[in-house]
Amino acid sequence: MIRTQTILSIFLSGALLASCSAGGDNPGYEYAPEMVHSIAYEAQSENPIYASGYTNQLPVEGAIAVGKYTYPLTNTPEGYADAATKIQNPFQFTPKEISGEGKKIYLTYCAVCHGEAGDGQGHLVQIEKFPAPPSYFTPDLMSKPEGQRYHTIMYGKGMMGSYATQINHRERWLVLEYIKGLQAEQLAKGGTN
Ligand code: HEC
Repeated sequence: MIRTQTILSIFLSGALLASCSAGGDNPGYEYAPEMVHSIAYEAQSENPIYASGYTNQLPVEGAIAVGKYTYPLTNTPEGYADAATKIQNPFQFTPKEISGEGKKIYLTYCAVCHGEAGDGQGHLVQIEKFPAPPSYFTPDLMSKPEGQRYHTIMYGKGMMGSYATQINHRERWLVLEYIKGLQAEQLAKGGTN
């Protein structure tokens, strides 16, 4: 009896499997075919519905993604001058955020030139691949308005490139707060250089 059942079930599952397989003129059976053959147009595919003929569409002009920050100043000397008064840190960071995340961002993106200490003696300078940036402890940079520092991260300045795409709005302010911390430590140690 058990034997007959086993043989029967083997036969049945074989028949079931065979009926699923497609081949020749037989399309077979598909479970939830909508999942296999997308009803929606695939990304990257041609699309007769849009005027451009593409499925992928650019956002409507002027659209701003939720939570995204748009920097209001232009990459011009006037923009840099305006940044001194118009751009301020909107965040309140905890000391832990600054010494944790802020430091991590600094060591990842900035220290390679500016040096871990902020003295302008980063690794690239040490191996003579990049001229030393000014130390953060020069009187000029000690008193540099934070808005102008932010502007420099956005657009770059002189030999420094823009870091706008590598770090976001919050991270930019966080790393600047970390740099301020380095400067405060330096002041406490004996001032500028
Ligand atoms: C490739 C080397 C390099 C890297 C990496 C780099 N910088 Fe700079 N940075 C410079 C140089 C060079 C200057 C001097 C620019 C000038 O005044 O001509 C500078 C200047 C600055 C200033 C002074 C800005 C001002 O308005 O005068 C700040 C602040 C600064 N960098 C922050 C950062 C931060 C934050 C990062 C990381 C996100 C970073 N830098 C990464 C090379 C670098």
